Amino acid sequence: MFFANSGAEANEAAIKLARRFGGRGRHVVVSAFGSFHGRTLATLHATGQPAKHEVFQPLPEGFRHATWADVADLERQLDDTVAAVLLEAVQGEGGVNPAPAEYLREVRRLCDERGVLLMFDEVQTGLGRCGEWFAHQAAGVRPDVVTMAKALGNGVPIGACWAREEIASVFEPGDHATTFGGQPLATAAARAVLEVMEAEQVPRRAARAGGRLRAALSGVPGVAGVRGMGLLLAVELEPVECRSAGDVVIDLLAGMHGTRIVANAVTPTALRLAPSLLISDDELDESIQVIAATLASAGPGAGLGEGA
Ligand SMILES: Cc1ncc(COP(=O)(O)O)c(C=O)c1O
Repeated sequence: MFFANSGAEANEAAIKLARRFGGRGRHVVVSAFGSFHGRTLATLHATGQPAKHEVFQPLPEGFRHATWADVADLERQLDDTVAAVLLEAVQGEGGVNPAPAEYLREVRRLCDERGVLLMFDEVQTGLGRCGEWFAHQAAGVRPDVVTMAKALGNGVPIGACWAREEIASVFEPGDHATTFGGQPLATAAARAVLEVMEAEQVPRRAARAGGRLRAALSGVPGVAGVRGMGLLLAVELEPVECRSAGDVVIDLLAGMHGTRIVANAVTPTALRLAPSLLISDDELDESIQVIAATLASAGPGAGLGEGA
C-alpha cells in the first residue's frame, strides 16, 4: 500500500507502477472512454474525455482509450505495448455507468491471457459506497492494483494505491514517494474512518439504503430510470422542455421544496446522488419527498428564472 494525498496521486502511483512492471516499450495504459481518473497531466490523459485534453496538449505519451463496456474493442487495444488496463467498476463522472459483471470478468480473462495488469480506480466507488468494500468485488474479479481516496479520510486528504505484493515489489527505493504520503495525521484519520465503517457495516448499509432510494425514486413522476450501485446513483429525468438536470440541481441546492439537497447534474439529463454512507431512513424519506416535489414543479419552462 502506497499512501498519497489525493485520488489523482493514487492513480499516478498506479500508472508509474504499471510502467515499471511493463518496462519501456510496454508502458501503455488503456482506460475507457467516459472515464475520469484525475487532473494531473498523466491522469488527465488516462481520463477518457478527449474534449478535456485539448487545452493541455501535449499530454504525456502512453495512454489509449477503449469503448466503455465493449470487450471486443478492449481486445483490439491490447497489443504488446500495453502494460495495464485501468477501469472504474462504475464510471462516476462519466454518468454513473456500472460495468456489467460479465464485462469485468472478460477483462480479467483478457488481462491474464496477455500478461497485462488489471487496475481498478475505486477513488469514487470504493470503501462501501457501492454496497461492497470495493465496487469490483460485486463482479467477483481479482484486481492487480486498486486505487482509493475520497472516503478514506472522510474529508482529510489521503489517497492510497494498493498492489499485489509481487507487482508492488517492482518499485525500487526512490522510484516513488511524496513528502506527506503516509503522514501520521492523515493515516490516523483513515484508520478512525475504517473503524467506524467496520462498526457500522457501511457496505451493507449502503446497499440497503441505496436499494430503498432507488425503489422509491423509480416510482416518482418525472423519473425515467435510476441506475448505479449502492449509494452512488444517477436519476435519469424524463425530458422536460427548457429544463435540464442542472436546473433541478439549482432548485435542490436552494431548498425550493424543503431541505436543501446536494446533488449534481452528472449529464444534462441525470442527477447524481451520493449521500452520506450513514444516511438514516428518515433522511432518505425526506430527500425522496423533496426530489419528488422539485420534479413536480418542473413544468415546461419552470425553473428558467432560477436556473438560468
Ligand atoms: C474515479 C476518480 N478517480 C480519480 C479522481 C481524482 O481524485 P482527486 O480529485 O482526489 O485527485 C476522482 C475524483 O473525482 C474520481 O472520481
